[in-house]
Amino acid sequence: MKKEMFKQAQEVIKNAYVPYSNFRVAAVLKLKNGETLTGINVENAAYGLSNCAERTAIFSAYAKGIRKEEIESIMVYTDKDYFVSPCGACRQVLSELMESDADVIMANSKGEMKTVKNRELLPLGFSKEDL
Ligand code: THU
Repeated sequence: MKKEMFKQAQEVIKNAYVPYSNFRVAAVLKLKNGETLTGINVENAAYGLSNCAERTAIFSAYAKGIRKEEIESIMVYTDKDYFVSPCGACRQVLSELMESDADVIMANSKGEMKTVKNRELLPLGFSKEDL
């Protein structure tokens, strides 16, 4: 349920490691069996090595042996009053690691949500079919 995911996002965003941008993001991944997994952004003094919340969450899921068929949706939460939409790198990763009709839910601090399909985020993307 989206409300439950939202609550988890509000809780886990506290763990964001953001000494450089001070811009906190949390992601909550929901599996089709109802389980959830979370992620936050983790930055580094070598800025380019920072990892977004979305990738932290989905890589954690894959590390547990979870695969795309089991994933229903991902929520991307920011504590700002506007939506944060996944960056280009995350779109590429999500396009391969979640099904194309999985939901990507953007949520803001006001509790507003905007949902799109994974396939909408990366039209004409590069994929393993191109190799
Ligand atoms: N960030 C995310 O974690 N997810 C997004 O969708 C956009 C950006 C992070 C990366 C960096 O730690 C901070 O936000 C500022 O770019």
